[in-house]
Amino acid sequence: MATNYLTLSFLLICLLPLASASNPNHQKHHPKHIPAIYVFGDSLYDSGNGIHIHPDAPAKSLPYGIDFGGKPTGRSTNGKTVVDYIAILLGLPFVPPYLGLTDHQRDIIKTGINYATEGSGILPETCTSCFTLDNQIEAFNRTVENNLSKMFKNQAQSKTHLSRSLFVVNVGVHDYGQQSQRGSQDPGTYALRLLTEFSLRLQRLYSIGARKILVNNIPPAGCFPRAAASMKPRGKCDENKNRMITLYNRRLPTLLHQLKSQLPGFVPVHADFYKFLLEMRRNANKYGILYIWEPCCPNNVDGDFTCHPNSVPCKDRNTHLFFDAHPTQITNDIFVRRCFNESTICRPLSLKQLVET
Ligand SMILES: *[C@@H]1O[C@H](CO)[C@@H](O)[C@H](O)[C@H]1NC(C)=O
Ligand SMILES: *[C@@H]1O[C@H](CO)[C@@H](O)[C@H](O)[C@H]1NC(C)=O
Ligand SMILES: *[C@@H]1O[C@H](CO)[C@@H](O)[C@H](O)[C@H]1NC(C)=O
Repeated sequence: MATNYLTLSFLLICLLPLASASNPNHQKHHPKHIPAIYVFGDSLYDSGNGIHIHPDAPAKSLPYGIDFGGKPTGRSTNGKTVVDYIAILLGLPFVPPYLGLTDHQRDIIKTGINYATEGSGILPETCTSCFTLDNQIEAFNRTVENNLSKMFKNQAQSKTHLSRSLFVVNVGVHDYGQQSQRGSQDPGTYALRLLTEFSLRLQRLYSIGARKILVNNIPPAGCFPRAAASMKPRGKCDENKNRMITLYNRRLPTLLHQLKSQLPGFVPVHADFYKFLLEMRRNANKYGILYIWEPCCPNNVDGDFTCHPNSVPCKDRNTHLFFDAHPTQITNDIFVRRCFNESTICRPLSLKQLVET
């Protein structure tokens, strides 16, 4: 009897996240307290907004999505994103892209919406043909004002829903891209400007109702495939590029700490995505990853490093840290596991602790 009960519980615990993931509108109760995930930022988190703006975006075609049931969705990787793994851990459905929803869907979805869009930066001018971070926050505000308010009996309930929800943000690497507005600005001055602008946007999210928020720092773009390929020896990181990003990253925890002390109830958690990727380069073997800079797509390092529609990717995606310029799903999976369990990657609270606060 006891054994059967345990087996049944085990099965239920294992199957529930999958069941809900395959049915985006399925509502259910879960022992964890997080009712929804709201997502902001760029392609690391985009689950399909970008392809509504850029119908020719590579992520619309295979091999993107080759390990997502063989279905391209606009995710910039072979399989699941960081946000997908977080959703599974929390027993929530995959978070649907805002631009893919009908008005009716916007009125009934209570488990979160994804506003993140490929190419977006902190500064609006970083990507003018994008659904910018400002656009994303405006759209979220409309969701709260027009749609969410109708799903709850009163404003207090809607506020409670938001305060229990998890907010996740990944943005900033495009502000350091080739066409960035940095121009001739001193790197330190530019980093401070980005932090000031980012702080304003976090405060806007707070004013709309965000409380629990997981904020990634900027990844080491100097170690991305294209950058690493042009170094001598090949595969080494471009330290100049990383150093500029570090100027921003070093101050981000302080900014979050300040916001926490100024905004009652605000619980920002800093996710050290930068350190995570550098550690993965060093300890890749431990996870069965053999290629730390060579992308899986294209599956050679002599071309233009663009993963074109119907490019043939590497056979074993789990042996690559990078799918294209973005992490493979195995890298995303390991990042989420470490953030969930270890307060060295996600601080001052692990994701597990944040969920339980
Ligand atoms: C829900 O939101 C959408 C877009 O923001 C809006 O067009 C629609 O009218 C809203 N639904 C209702 C019933 O107001
Ligand atoms: C959200 O929308 C409301 C109503 O239009 C507006 O008063 C408020 O300033 C907006 N908040 C933000 C942060 O944009
Ligand atoms: C966290 O660590 C525990 C104990 O080591 C482990 O059982 C669990 O699977 C880990 N959780 C995740 C999401 O990796």
